[in-house]
Amino acid sequence: MRYYLAPMEGITGYIFRNALHDHFGEGIDKYYTPFLVVHEKIAVGGRDLKDVLPAHNVGINLVPQILTNDADGFLRTAEGLAEFGYKEVNLNLGCPSKTVAGKGRGSGFLADTEKLDDFLYRIFEDGRFNISVKTRIGVTDPEEFGELIGIFNKYPIRELIIHPRVRYEYYKGKPHRDIFYKYFDTSANPVCYNGDIFSKEDMEELKEGTGGRLGAVMIGRGILMDPSLIRTLSGGKALSRSEIMSFLDRIRDDLLREMSSEKQVLMKLKELWGYLGNGFPGRKKELKQLLKCGSLNELKMLQMQILGDMKEVS
Ligand SMILES: Cc1cc2nc3c(=O)[nH]c(=O)nc-3n(C[C@H](O)[C@H](O)[C@H](O)COP(=O)(O)O)c2cc1C
Repeated sequence: MRYYLAPMEGITGYIFRNALHDHFGEGIDKYYTPFLVVHEKIAVGGRDLKDVLPAHNVGINLVPQILTNDADGFLRTAEGLAEFGYKEVNLNLGCPSKTVAGKGRGSGFLADTEKLDDFLYRIFEDGRFNISVKTRIGVTDPEEFGELIGIFNKYPIRELIIHPRVRYEYYKGKPHRDIFYKYFDTSANPVCYNGDIFSKEDMEELKEGTGGRLGAVMIGRGILMDPSLIRTLSGGKALSRSEIMSFLDRIRDDLLREMSSEKQVLMKLKELWGYLGNGFPGRKKELKQLLKCGSLNELKMLQMQILGDMKEVS
């Protein structure tokens, strides 16, 4: 099984990605950038540029993700990324947020299948780039995927990453694994599964549902909750207290170098704890305090209390 880190805007940028790669990278085959926006005159700009700079991603197998419904913009951005040495680019057809999908991008693009088909025709006809696609299964009805997979099958998609929820489900409820299994064998392109993988049991169910034929899984929140998840899914040891502490210290130190104020760093670390904290259901009180605390010192103290339950060495 190949494992990928999911793109998560605001979280899995190059600082988190490098820390994950250095501390828990064994077994992680690919990393995806959070979506890059398309510009009129430049290929990649601002914060996005920092994220994809080869110097910020040394030794990391990184796939940049592009969010657009404009074929020329996609090709312009892909060209700039190819100049940096990237061998694959990913198209975002999954983002459910109103500001994105409301403008017909991300999962909003799935609503206009004719336009989507034309767009895919243009970017694949160009022929210069290896393009993978990360998609939801529809806008309102999971069965929309029947038509969508028919469109995807017309193009040589490097890998079709399927998150089996529709746009309006955002990240709530359970993914429609039944729909994923139903269409898994009808894909002419290699398929990767994404959505709610948190444990070995989740992986077992997925392997069984696909008759052992699934080749790749992309994981987001599961890794934020337990950065050693891919190691444990592959039979390795469980996360220890010292490991998570040095991982969090590394992220804090890199953020301090990158950001202008401690307040910003604190916000970022709290965002991370919003996911990591789900792994400590017995520490609700401390987690609440951590999410409200006002300094990095306070955060560190609360962090030690929360992690106090963990084994030092596993
Ligand atoms: C805060 C947040 C930001 C995300 N940003 C992106 C993004 O930039 N591009 C993308 O394709 N998906 C994005 N996603 C979706 C994730 O990549 C993934 O599909 C989703 O979290 C489901 O997988 P999981 O259950 O393993 O987390 C984001 C999700 C969250 C919660």
